[in-house]
Amino acid sequence: MSKITVWFIKSAMVYFVLAIVVGLHMAASGTTYPYMPIHAHLNLLGWISMMIYGVGYHILPRFSGRPLYSDRLAEWQFWLANIGLVGMSLGWVIRSYSSCHICHKHAQNNKGCHTSACGKIKPAIRQGMYGYNHT
Ligand code: HEM
Ligand code: HEM
Repeated sequence: MSKITVWFIKSAMVYFVLAIVVGLHMAASGTTYPYMPIHAHLNLLGWISMMIYGVGYHILPRFSGRPLYSDRLAEWQFWLANIGLVGMSLGWVIRSYSSCHICHKHAQNNKGCHTSACGKIKPAIRQGMYGYNHT
């Protein structure tokens, strides 16, 4: 097997283990789970797609009877796919800590948005707009 096939298959296996860990954590958690897209994409892009890329790089040149156009290009694809998946996953982690999510949490805890900082700012803006409209 070529170097690139081994890299893809090894990373697919690492993502599969990570996806299972996130999946089990999700199954054990409550109904709202902000990391569901991470589980989904570690599985679909990390496990399934990386495995397909790796196996594809092995069998497609054999099916076509022609060598790869460029090994360099395949290495670029490997790094971009990995950086993209890890970056996207980190993005979802960051999003889960965004103010929007905090608002959602307040709402779910039945505290309502009014107790939170953004809950105090919003009525202030509303009053301001109302006042502006009526002057
Ligand atoms: C031990 C293995 C796994 C566990 C424990 C697990 C667990 C879960 C759980 C708890 C959910 C949330 C379901 C919901 O609340 O609607 C979920 C969603 C999902 N899982 Fe897994 N899963 C596993 C393996 C896989 C595999 C192998 C794949 C794909 C190859 C996969 C793809 C997905 C996708 C795409 C979703 C999102 C579905 C949606 O958008 O509604 N999972 N998984
Ligand atoms: C460059 C590649 C991809 C990008 C940038 C991407 C991006 C996204 C985004 C932004 C969401 C919405 C997540 C949310 O806000 O909750 C999503 C959901 C989803 N994507 Fe992708 N995706 C990619 C590849 C794929 C692939 C290859 C598959 C399937 C083979 C897939 C299957 C899904 C599924 C099933 C959902 C719903 C899962 C959930 O609700 O958590 N995606 N994707």
